Amino acid sequence: MTDSKRIALFPAPPARAAATPQRPRDQLGRPLHDLRISVMDRCNFRCSYCMPRETFHEHYRFLKSKERLSFEEIIRLSRLFACFGVEKLRLTGGEPLLRPNLAELVGELTAIGGIKDVALTTNGVLLAQHAAQLKANGLSRITVSLDTLDPEIFKQMSGGFAERDRVLEGIRAAQAANLTPIKINVVVERGVNDHTLLDTVDYFRGSGIIVRFIEYMDVGNRNQWTLERVVPSRELLERIGARWPLHPVQENYRGEVAERYAFDDGAGEIGFISSISNPFCGTCTRARLSSEGVLYTCLFAQSGLDLRAPMRAGASDDELRELIASCWRARSDRYSELRQSLQKREPQQHKIEMYYIGG
Ligand SMILES: C[S@@+](CC[C@H](N)C(=O)[O-])C[C@H]1O[C@@H](n2cnc3c(N)ncnc32)[C@H](O)[C@@H]1O
Ligand code: SF4
Repeated sequence: MTDSKRIALFPAPPARAAATPQRPRDQLGRPLHDLRISVMDRCNFRCSYCMPRETFHEHYRFLKSKERLSFEEIIRLSRLFACFGVEKLRLTGGEPLLRPNLAELVGELTAIGGIKDVALTTNGVLLAQHAAQLKANGLSRITVSLDTLDPEIFKQMSGGFAERDRVLEGIRAAQAANLTPIKINVVVERGVNDHTLLDTVDYFRGSGIIVRFIEYMDVGNRNQWTLERVVPSRELLERIGARWPLHPVQENYRGEVAERYAFDDGAGEIGFISSISNPFCGTCTRARLSSEGVLYTCLFAQSGLDLRAPMRAGASDDELRELIASCWRARSDRYSELRQSLQKREPQQHKIEMYYIGG
């Protein structure tokens, strides 16, 4: 995007903000590389595995707009993260497209020195109306969540919203806007949508769109997760491979979460995200910022570091940078690798919810 096209919401930072990155390493030697930013805790779906209706009902207290980080605050923190060598930002939620003027934020984030990639994860319902503007403002890539093509099961999994066709329309709009590569996230739940997944593969094969199957995860405490509902990626790989032979493909970069497989007949690739059966904590370089400005160093964290309070109390960039670096240096999280022993030791751990921290 050219500077003239970009809407200048906030003045450019002093040159110092783009200083040579000093990338902190955590207790396990992992660098800080990506930042996921939840821009909105609310959602227009109630997926049973994420925001079950029984908990997230009409009286549930979501954040008020003043409690959420403003665009200015998100941009400031993103610049500080970029100083540490963070190159990739992913906007998520809740549903990020519910945040008004999101494309403007994208424009500002892509202009930060050192940021090479700004991506978005969305449920796709509002995508058709925003895809072109997001692309124009510099969004590099998009991931759309679509658990099944079966309209009834879609409705059931999204918490009663019969929006499958709008999501498909959003995906077409993203294609037309050239927001590529488009990835489709499919959460797999045994006995719920696993019998529909070959149809999903069939639908997207040959389109250039990459479908990724995610093992149902025990994020948060409210989704009634049990191991029996997880379909291990290996099982799925066998089922899909029996219909369309597949071969493994090398990861695009170290620490890529999805294991990639390509169709032998050249019709593209699919991926598997296997946090349960094959944890990837060892190469995890992701930090997460909640919509109210709490920094988490793991998707399964029990607590985080509040950056909003010091920021609103007038902390300098140096002070904030020190807070971020100390938090990352202290990090020793590897929940997925330790899942079984942690669950035995403390079955009722209070974990942060996915809608709040962002997937
Ligand atoms: C929390 S959502 C936020 C962005 C957007 N609302 C969406 O659904 O794409 C991000 C991703 O997390 C995934 N997700 C949510 N809960 C999950 C769970 N319990 N296990 C695995 N993936 C989950 C969703 O399917 C989605 O792809
Ligand atoms: S997975 Fe995404 S769409 Fe579904 S409830 Fe969670 S935040 Fe909303």
